[in-house]
Formats: sequence, C-alpha cells, structure tokens
Amino acid sequence: MNVAVIGTNYLGAAHAAGMAEFGHSVIGVDVVPERVAVLNSGRSTVFEEGLEPLLAKHTASGRLRFTTDYSEIADWADVHFICVGTPQSDSGAADLSQVWAVVEHLGPLLTKPTVIAGKSTVPVGTAPHLQSRFDELAPGVGVEVMWNPEFLREAFAVKDTLTPDRIVLGARSAAALERMRQVYSVPIAAGVPVVACDIATAELIKVAANAFLATKISFINAMAQMCQAAGGDVTLLADAIGHDKRIGREFLNAGLGFGGGCLPKDIRALATRARELDVAVLADFIGDVEAINEGQRREVAELAVGQFDGDIGGRKVAVLGAAFKPGTDDTRSSPALSVADRLAAAGADVWIFDPQAQVAGPNFTQAASIEECLRDAELVLHLTEWPLFRQLDPADYADLVRNKVLIDGRLKLDRERWQRAGWKVIQLGRAATL
Ligand code: UGA
Repeated sequence: MNVAVIGTNYLGAAHAAGMAEFGHSVIGVDVVPERVAVLNSGRSTVFEEGLEPLLAKHTASGRLRFTTDYSEIADWADVHFICVGTPQSDSGAADLSQVWAVVEHLGPLLTKPTVIAGKSTVPVGTAPHLQSRFDELAPGVGVEVMWNPEFLREAFAVKDTLTPDRIVLGARSAAALERMRQVYSVPIAAGVPVVACDIATAELIKVAANAFLATKISFINAMAQMCQAAGGDVTLLADAIGHDKRIGREFLNAGLGFGGGCLPKDIRALATRARELDVAVLADFIGDVEAINEGQRREVAELAVGQFDGDIGGRKVAVLGAAFKPGTDDTRSSPALSVADRLAAAGADVWIFDPQAQVAGPNFTQAASIEECLRDAELVLHLTEWPLFRQLDPADYADLVRNKVLIDGRLKLDRERWQRAGWKVIQLGRAATL
C-alpha cells in the first residue's frame, strides 16, 4: 500500500520507518526542510536506538523517502497518517495548530477517496471537527477521518512500532477499518491484538493510558513519602506489590517522577478537557497526580539546599543526567533539569553530565566527562538513571569531589556500595535500615 506519514519527529520518523519495514511504500512529509534532508540521507534527527539502521535500510531500498511537498502524497496515499506534535498551550489544553495546518495543507489537494488516520494525541472530540473541515475542503471526495493512537515510548520507538502491545482503530466505517487492518497486516498476523471502536473511545484510550501510567508513578512516589516518614523502603515495597499480577512491577519506580514530551502535557490536556465537559472528578484526580509529581522535584531540590544549611550559593553541584529518562536525548519537561534549574536559581554552580542530551542555557555548565562534572563538587545528584551511572565505581571518585555526598533522585544506585566507599547516600523513600 501507499502510506503517507505527516510529521516526522520522534513519532513520525519511527512510524514511517516501521511502515516501510511492514512492506509499504512510504512518503514522510515535514515542514522542516533540514529534517527532510537528514532523513532522506538515511539518518535520524533524534537519538533513538535502532531507528537509524531502519531509516538507512528503507531509504536505500527505495521504499521510504521524505518531502516537504504535500502534492506528492495527496492522491498517492491510500492512508495518510497524522503524526505532528500537539504540545501544551498556555491554558494547559493541547495546542492543535500543527494538526489544523495539516488539514489546511492537505484538504484542498485531495481528489480521491482516502483514509486520514490520526496518531497524534488529541482531546476527545477533535476528529469530528477535522472531518467537517475536510468535507469543506474536499467536498464529495470521500475523505474519512479515523483515530489510531500511538503508544510508542521514546528509547523504544522502533521496538514499540514493530511489535506494539495493541493496535487501536477508532473508525466510523467498516471500509476504513478494513483498510487499516491491511496497513497493519504484518503485526496483526503476528498476533498483536486489535481494539476496534468508535472514534471518541480511541481518542480517550490514548490519554487514559498515559494518565494511568502517571498515576502509577505518583502513587509510588506518595508511598515513598510514607516510607520516608514511617521508616520503610519503597523499592522493596514496589517489588512486593509488583509481584501481584493485578498490580505489576512496571512504572512503580519511585524517585523524581515523570517528565518528557507526553505524560505531563497529556494529563494536563485531559484535565482541561474533563473540566470543559464538567467531569470535575477526573480533573481533580489528575490535579493530585500532577501535584505529587511536582512535589518530588521540589523535595529533591530542597534536600540539596538543606545539605548546606539553606545556602547553596556558589557551591559546585554535580548533576548526573539531563534527559527526561535514560535512552533518549530528549529534555522536554525533564525532572532532572527542573531540579537543576531550582538549584541554579538558588545560586548553586551547577554542572551537568549526560551521555546524550545537550543542555543549553546560562544556568548550567555542561561537563564533557563525568570526571569534569564531579571534580571539586560539594554535592552529587543522580537525576536520570542511565545504566552508565550504575556502573560507576564510587571509589574512583572519592578523592575527586570535595564532599562525598550523593542524592540519588532515582533510587537506582547501589547504596551500600557507595556507602562502603565512604559516601553519604540520600535516597528519598528508603529510610529503612536493615
Ligand atoms: C509515554 C508512554 O509510556 C507511551 O506509551 C506513550 O506513547 C508516550 O508517552 C506518548 O504519549 O507519546 P515516554 O514519554 O517515552 O512514553 O516516556 P515513559 O517511558 O512513559 O516515561 C515517562 C516518565 O516517567 C519519565 O520521566 C520516566 O523517568 C518516568 N518514570 C517512568 C518514573 O518516574 N517511574 C517509573 O516507574 C517509570
């Protein structure tokens, strides 16, 4: 089949490459000419394990190419996927301007029936508005809008695209559903379950999934506070409750909480939409999830300042990690940078080391190595749990720092090992002493 993928950042690039791997002819469209040029040369514009080899394979095979020109895809594609960003607007609602720009560009060019499959995360009720506008721009053509939300995680984008947990297809007609089943015939044949539903449910499934993941994280962080207060160990607690299959161990890692380009903005957009629809109970619930998340960042920053009796001004602080999670160079809504910002605002001399993420700005100094980051530091904070940091030998750094004090904001370092090397280790939620 001929498949167009509109928007080629993290989501779209992985989706386009995945569609080519499934055997389709794919054209990716983006408004950023530089991104199109890089992708056409078989390279990735983002750090994402396995993406570049797949882009290289299919740009070379001739099955995948990228363009800025909508006229190349309009009547060519059997399915047009919308994969553009829906960032947060000032009001907290999703900013749909990129989605609307796609409709305005594509609509007037369509003269053949086609399926428009939305993958971007949008507030429930968006698709019918898009449908009406397509009907105005391409009257009588037979353009059908449906929703096929995306669940891929950054750092696992290729794996999640090729072997998703489920495929959600929200459509009005059996014909659109059937066309989408053909698009996904490879994973469907491999046993990936399909949930076919109405469009509103499909739009909601995506935000419900992200809200539930955020809830799990905030729940375990609230339990971390309880462990801290009562003298317990939240990691052992998570292990124990995670053995219960109904609960599961995933997304029960306590620490700095969630960040990234999706969870924070998606739950805010869901709360905003819930308020618009007078579902106060959901909006309030999500408000609590978000407040707990913010509280974790504040608490870790306060712990750091507390190490210097409230005055961290001029102290060199070493921050390990800047990306919002390991495996990516993405720093959007990064919990690590949020803590670093607070410390810089309090006057600390903040140095950051991250194996992939670039941190620009006047508030920090990006260290070229862990050694440079830690040299003469008066406090070390571990804020993004890259495997590299777990492999460090704390003895190697004992003489490099000025104070052997470590705040492990991700609860992932081997506390006893660091303590044996003479470090004071602080992990919120691990107050128990065995
Ligand atoms: C998230 C969802 O997991 C994907 O299913 C979804 O498709 C995607 O958003 C999206 O909407 O596009 P992602 O933003 O890549 O994926 O990040 P996650 O792996 O969900 O992690 C989010 C944050 O939660 C990270 O900051 C991570 O460090 C934090 N986290 C995760 C915890 O604090 N504790 C945990 O136990 C797990």
